[in-house]
Amino acid sequence: MAIDKMLTADPEIAREIMKELARQNEKIELIASENLVSEIVMEAQGSVLTNKYAEGYPGNRYHAGCEHVDVIETIAIERAKKLYKAEYANVQPHSGVNANLAVYVAMLKPGDAILGMQLDMGGHLSHGSKANISGKFYNCSFYGVSRETELIDYDEMQRLARELKPRMIVAGASSYSRRIDYARFREVADEVGAYFLVDMAHISGLVAAGVHPNPVEYADFVTSTTTKTIRGARGGIILCREKYGPKIDKAIFPGIQGGPQLNGIAGKAVCFREAMTEEFRDYAARVIENARTMAEALQEKGYRVVSGGTDTHLFLLDLRPKGLTGVAAEEALESVGITVNKNMIPFDPENPRVTSGIRIGTSAMTTRGVGREEILQMAELVDRTLVNRDKADVLEGVRDEVVRLCRRFPMYDYQFSNQEPPKE
Ligand SMILES: Cc1ncc(COP(=O)(O)O)c(C=O)c1O
Repeated sequence: MAIDKMLTADPEIAREIMKELARQNEKIELIASENLVSEIVMEAQGSVLTNKYAEGYPGNRYHAGCEHVDVIETIAIERAKKLYKAEYANVQPHSGVNANLAVYVAMLKPGDAILGMQLDMGGHLSHGSKANISGKFYNCSFYGVSRETELIDYDEMQRLARELKPRMIVAGASSYSRRIDYARFREVADEVGAYFLVDMAHISGLVAAGVHPNPVEYADFVTSTTTKTIRGARGGIILCREKYGPKIDKAIFPGIQGGPQLNGIAGKAVCFREAMTEEFRDYAARVIENARTMAEALQEKGYRVVSGGTDTHLFLLDLRPKGLTGVAAEEALESVGITVNKNMIPFDPENPRVTSGIRIGTSAMTTRGVGREEILQMAELVDRTLVNRDKADVLEGVRDEVVRLCRRFPMYDYQFSNQEPPKE
């Protein structure tokens, strides 16, 4: 592997990459947006494609020498269309945020109204937050979840849409564990004359596998990261109706991006092919099963699961019944090698740096091969850590158990190198 050369040529960076590999290998990864890509996705991303400039689109580039990258990008597009049953695909977005931004730039004028899901109820920064360019350039309003059910309040969303007449309605979330009623959104969008965008970043692997409804059937535009449940290269995609394709392409290039990252596009193509297999379908079903098992196990231990359960790879734990904040739980769990993120829960009385919850996802650990038995063990380790967060000896025991569990499920068949990371 190239890392062996790097060990001599640039030991400072090589050392940190090797330490990062060890960190990933020996920690229980429960961050819902993370996953482990296959070796061939990594190979594609680390390939000579990184050398190539290819502004434009296949067959219509601003640089010469694009005959091979044209084939690669065309394959990526065709696979994306087939996988998600979409009329049109653009595989160039460098990230999920860029994919969303390109849809806004393509279809809206600055100042136009967008109705999205509120950030602290599960939405994403790029759905209109003031801290993001979407909230600065467009006039954004938000729907949320019902206090009683913690499910999207569709009636309120409809009421807001009627009142505000948005040009675009955005569905999709970063921390919402339930199925979204896309048909209802479509109805409302049609009623008020809005475009309908679904950002399926978190669930796009589940959609690809057919274990979650496909928003492409309902939305004018569907965006996604190609990381997370789809388990591919870092980046994004946009799927849309054929008639919007040219506008979307222009919005990406030359609108908001320059040359495409062909190495990433090859990685996306590879992951789309992987996602068409029976093995991936089985994986995605196990991700959901594992999330449900863990949510139930933690519920039995006295934690409150937001909305009472999950239909996806993730769930939110309300830690207030345990007298804990999200930040305290995140720190305690990190100290024993269990990685999660603090997260706002609906109607959270705490601020975003503290929060009352944590978000837990099962995509990465399911990729490593864990099943019900290990999921129950992990739930027990989470609970034991949080209950005994002040007891150093108990935490030491958990730390050992975490490493032993991780070693039973190695991430990759190979190691980058047999060498130890060089000393600092
Ligand atoms: C729903 C949603 N959209 C967009 C993004 C942003 O993706 P990226 O970090 O690739 O810009 C995320 C990332 O967490 C997300 O959860």
